Amino acid sequence: MKDLDLVEIKNRILEAGEIIKKNICPKDITEKTNKHDLVTNVDKEVEIFFRKKINDNYPEDGIIAEEKMGKKATSMKNRVWILDPIDGTANFIFERKNFAIMLGIYEDNKPIYGAIYDVMNEELWEGKTSLGVFVNGKKYELNKNLSLDDGIIELSSVMLTGHRNEKFYNLINKSRGFRVRGACSIEAIYVFKGLATSAVHTLAKAWDVAAVDVIAKELGLISKSIDGGNFDFLDDELPSIVAFPKAYDEIMKILKK
Ligand code: IPD
Ligand code: CA
Ligand code: CA
Repeated sequence: MKDLDLVEIKNRILEAGEIIKKNICPKDITEKTNKHDLVTNVDKEVEIFFRKKINDNYPEDGIIAEEKMGKKATSMKNRVWILDPIDGTANFIFERKNFAIMLGIYEDNKPIYGAIYDVMNEELWEGKTSLGVFVNGKKYELNKNLSLDDGIIELSSVMLTGHRNEKFYNLINKSRGFRVRGACSIEAIYVFKGLATSAVHTLAKAWDVAAVDVIAKELGLISKSIDGGNFDFLDDELPSIVAFPKAYDEIMKILKK
């Protein structure tokens, strides 16, 4: 297996960010499963851009990517790249901000590298296993442990609609309020910055959690499936929690009641 060139990968993520900025008014917007589940020509273009780079430079590696513009890895053996070309597509379309590129790289199911690029803020978060977390290349550390009562909890919109559940109201009541930002990536960044205590998603997929998982673990945060287990990135649904350890214990107490 060829060694990863992390500098090259970082440059490609920044280049993909430029592609998105140049196409900030997408030409094509289509519905996938329903009117809330959208995709644009730009999501597809960014995924194709990464697939080509990966296939050219690391032809043995597997790929799991949201817009399915090529083959999907069927095993987490060897190296697998997990990509969300634009996380927060609805924000991209309607707000033209608050979206990010997310990329997680795993080897034999172990985290190697995770990147979240908040394109419009030009803020690149990189998690490198055993080396730590870097924001725009600068080492970042988080020395806090927040409980639910210390701040905001981030939730996904479906938890207030289709997945509505009394337990989610109990989470909100234990916290100082909730926010729905419409992008798992941006919500995770709030947690990384200590501006939120936790983020809970009942409708996440592999590409929504793979990058978050690497960065969160390097920061000493808890990143788990909602049932308390580890993620299996080959699963279709990966309901997820990223939280400070204290907040995580409180969330699990409420969800398991
Ligand atoms: C979605 C966003 C949203 C979350 C959904 C995701 P997409 O990603 O992250 O916040 O609630 O579960 O699917 O479709 O914009 O890449
Ligand atoms: Ca997406
Ligand atoms: Ca997503």
